[in-house]
Amino acid sequence: MRRTVTNPDRNITFSQHHVSLQERWQQNGHASGILWFTGLSGSGKTTLALNLERRLFDRGWHACVLDGDNVRHGLSSDLGFSQHDREENIRRIGEVAKLFALSGVIVITAFISPYRSDRDRVRNIAPDMFREVHIDASLEVCERRDPKGLYVKARQGLIADFTGISAPYETPHKPELRVPTQELGIADCLDLLETYAVESFGREG
Ligand SMILES: Nc1ncnc2c1ncn2[C@@H]1O[C@H](COP(=O)(O)OP(=O)(O)O)[C@@H](O)[C@H]1O
Ligand SMILES: [Mg+2]
Repeated sequence: MRRTVTNPDRNITFSQHHVSLQERWQQNGHASGILWFTGLSGSGKTTLALNLERRLFDRGWHACVLDGDNVRHGLSSDLGFSQHDREENIRRIGEVAKLFALSGVIVITAFISPYRSDRDRVRNIAPDMFREVHIDASLEVCERRDPKGLYVKARQGLIADFTGISAPYETPHKPELRVPTQELGIADCLDLLETYAVESFGREG
């Protein structure tokens, strides 16, 4: 049966899928959702997201990374790093992540997403699926790692609105998971993440 919900003011109609989320989970053998990584530049988001995606894939699971730099080449290529543009960037990514999750995929997002209100907005559009994961390292450690040389440039004043230097980072109050990347090595961080993913999505809902 096809059911629709109509918003007459804007002529928008939502069509109801003929495949339920539950059926997708049963077919995939696992549930889906959003692992929302947040943390300073250089904290380890990309490194851990890509390796976690590999581990979940090797289990036969459906997982996909959405990464900051890649999204800014396409979906958000028109946006900069002002508070307004970051807000819009995170809003778009949140909506895309939700669509992926509703299609049965475990989405791992790797964006600094420095503002609490932006992260909370994503949580609010997908409350059952959203898991906030704080990829946690101090500014000092991130600046020492500086894997892309961005902190050096930011200190020289060559990058405006750089998180931690000239723009704020709002630490999550109550993330579902905190991954302390300055205390644990990469393999231990991945074990922590994989265990959490299996606990969260290992049943078919
Ligand atoms: N426990 C750890 N987890 C993740 N990255 C780590 C860890 N320890 C050291 N690193 C290093 O820190 C850097 C993190 O860079 P990256 O993953 O690009 O960060 P981000 O995507 O958050 O900006 C990499 O050079 C990585 O090898
Ligand atoms: Mg990154």
